[in-house]
Amino acid sequence: MKCRKCGEKASVNMRQHKLALCKDHYLEWIPEQTDRFIKKYQMFSPDERILVAVSGGKDSLSLWDILVRLGFHADGLYIGLGIDGGINYSNESQRLTEEFANQNNLKLHIVEIEREYGLSIPALSMQTQRGLGKPCAVCGLTKRHEMNRIARDLGYDVLATGHNLDDEAAVLFGNTLTWSADYLLRQGPVLPASDGLSRKVKPLCRFYEREMTAYALLRGINYIYEECPHAVGSTSIYYKEILNQIETARPGAKLTFYLRFLEARRSGELFVEPNLEAAHLHPCTNCGQLTSAPDLCTFCRMMEKVKPTPV
Ligand code: AMP
Ligand code: FES
Ligand code: ZN
Ligand code: ZN
Repeated sequence: MKCRKCGEKASVNMRQHKLALCKDHYLEWIPEQTDRFIKKYQMFSPDERILVAVSGGKDSLSLWDILVRLGFHADGLYIGLGIDGGINYSNESQRLTEEFANQNNLKLHIVEIEREYGLSIPALSMQTQRGLGKPCAVCGLTKRHEMNRIARDLGYDVLATGHNLDDEAAVLFGNTLTWSADYLLRQGPVLPASDGLSRKVKPLCRFYEREMTAYALLRGINYIYEECPHAVGSTSIYYKEILNQIETARPGAKLTFYLRFLEARRSGELFVEPNLEAAHLHPCTNCGQLTSAPDLCTFCRMMEKVKPTPV
């Protein structure tokens, strides 16, 4: 497989885009695309101050790297959750985040939940019993709260997270299964500022997870490979597996699922009653069933093709 831009050996093949690129061109392509998405969804402008929520994983470290390469003013925020799980998950992810910030001379804010509130996430979860056993619900709630609080207190215009397409498609899948209209209406690349909360953006939401892994590896970014130990068996991982099966059989399905949703939401057609009159339906000239086609309905048009030709 050859790079489409220079003909050298390709390092990354993106079946869904029918595009293969060598290392150098891939490392150019990802920031170019990110910049395009930032402009398309009007995420932020070059004069705004951005706070990137960095977990030490490949997505958020790559996001920070990309924004800085694009020349944006982006500082980092790491939230210490106090999660152990054998590999000392929180300590290791903090170490890698600090290492990245130091190597690139970037400003990193660190908030320790235990220092701030007296309890780590697992302890907070035990005490409040939310999430019944698993601390994930308490964790998600706390992270959102802290990201909002720090962004507002430190006067950042925008809060950026590293959610990728796989994350967004899994959330969309879950919200669709339950038809959670209020969540669906709020899901998107940009959540506008409201009531003292900064605007929230997801500049990587159109990149597949494997594209972000490739970026981090080819850029030589040192990130934490392990998932949070509590994520094992979670619903979102289950949805991601199902979507991956669909994607394997139909390359591009995940991207289409997400982009068509954004388009339907933007146009308003998702949440309004369909107006049959406005759709200009009229009876098929052959069978009388309502159709939007000018004369024959789709069925009759098909049957026309299989009609024996008169002798
Ligand atoms: P997750 O909810 O773990 O899938 O993470 C989604 C996004 O939230 C990441 O890409 C980060 O931008 C952000 N995030 C997750 N964990 C942390 C953390 N401990 N500190 C700061 N940001 C985080
Ligand atoms: Fe919060 Fe796993 S990252 S429980
Ligand atoms: Zn090339
Ligand atoms: Zn509150």
